[in-house]
Amino acid sequence: MNRNSQLTSQSALQTRSLGRVFGKTLGPGDVVAITGPLGVGKTVFAQGIADSFDIDDNVTSPTFTIMNEYSGKLPFYHLDFYRLNSPSEFIWLDFKEMLDGEGVSIIEWGERAGDELPKRTLRVIMEFIDNDRRSITITRIGVQK
Ligand SMILES: Nc1ncnc2c1ncn2[C@@H]1O[C@H](COP(=O)(O)OP(=O)(O)OP(=O)(O)O)[C@@H](O)[C@H]1O
Ligand SMILES: [Mg+2]
Repeated sequence: MNRNSQLTSQSALQTRSLGRVFGKTLGPGDVVAITGPLGVGKTVFAQGIADSFDIDDNVTSPTFTIMNEYSGKLPFYHLDFYRLNSPSEFIWLDFKEMLDGEGVSIIEWGERAGDELPKRTLRVIMEFIDNDRRSITITRIGVQK
C-alpha cells in the first residue's frame, strides 16, 4: 500500500488489517487525519494503525477526552475532534508541539481543525458503500478546509 491508495474494505476486520498495513508506512512525526461520517469505521482503522505500533491497550474513541496517549514502538496519540467547534479551539488546546514530536498522531474528525493541521498531514477518507463495505482513500495532500 502506498500513500495514494483507493481501497475497498468488506468488513470491520479487513478495515483493521488495512489500518495495520498503512500503519507500517508511518514514522515519527507523522500525522494522519481520518475523515468520514459517524460510524463509518474511523476508530477501527485507527485500531489497525495502533496494532502496527504494538500497542496492547484497547484503543477506543477519545470523543470525550479529545486525546488518548498510548505507548508502543513510538508514542501514539489518538485524537478525536468531533466535539471541537472551531479551529480556534484547536489553537487553544495547543496540540502543535505534540504533533511535531517523535510520536505518531491519528486524528478523527481532523477537518474540524480547519487549516491548523500540518501540511504534511496524510488524509484517510472513509465512505459508506453499504452495511459492511467501506471505501478508504489515502492521499498525501494536506488537510484542506
Ligand atoms: N468495513 C467496515 N469497516 C469498519 N467498520 C465496519 C465495517 N463494517 C461494519 N463496521 C462496523 O461499523 C462500526 C464502525 O465504528 P467506529 O467506531 O470505528 O466508527 P467511527 O467512524 O470511529 O465513528 P465516530 O464518528 O462515532 O467516531 C463498527 O461497529 C464496525 O464493526
Ligand atoms: Mg471513532
